[in-house]
Amino acid sequence: MTLSTPSIPVITLDGPSASGKGTVAERVAAALGFHFLDSGALYRLTALSAMKQGVALDDEARVAQLAAELPATFHDSAVWLADEDVTDAIRAEAVGEGASKVAALPAVRAALLDRQRAYRQAPGLVADGRDMGTVVFADATTKVFLTASAEARAGRRYKQLIGKGNSASLPALVADMQARDARDTARAVAPLKPAPDALLLDTTHMDIESAVQAVLAQYALLGT
Ligand code: C5P
Repeated sequence: MTLSTPSIPVITLDGPSASGKGTVAERVAAALGFHFLDSGALYRLTALSAMKQGVALDDEARVAQLAAELPATFHDSAVWLADEDVTDAIRAEAVGEGASKVAALPAVRAALLDRQRAYRQAPGLVADGRDMGTVVFADATTKVFLTASAEARAGRRYKQLIGKGNSASLPALVADMQARDARDTARAVAPLKPAPDALLLDTTHMDIESAVQAVLAQYALLGT
């Protein structure tokens, strides 16, 4: 089955972890009344599913099978795996680490491709990830690549964790962030990089609302 539906607009937001793209993507989707795809959640769910079932994260064939059969559902902002609410569980640092590992496996990426493209439904889609503009929706007319320094991103993650009552170490978060960026950027399949036609938005010194406005302005210019 082909899932190509090029007449439906897609805005892609790619970038490294904690660049703010998730929040920006959700707000842009709400402003336009578009659907929203958090593709990272699919990789996180795949990793969580493997961890729960004792499948090694480098067992490409078995992890790809889990990805293809993910019993995942999204209700408002809650994420379910079969009959379990895993909204918080998939946000754990260990699951993010695991997601970055399974995301380097070509068969896992292939297994998630059609599922992601199926989100392209009227009136439009805002898709957040690493390869939305380069691979999954390479024909999107509005592509944005969000960046911010590793220190700024680690600082945001630190505030989030402390705000939720967790303990956190800023130097450890900077190191994790750099390790994950290096893995996402260096992998052979769908590495983290801006599409040639993406708008580069450095959010190091930018608040969320300004980033939302910049994406909406780019869509107004190119997307319709
Ligand atoms: O965006 P988020 O931090 O939730 O993504 C978790 C991990 O999933 C990333 O570190 C990345 O390795 C992987 N990912 C990916 N491609 C995407 C989305 C996420 O490789 N489109």
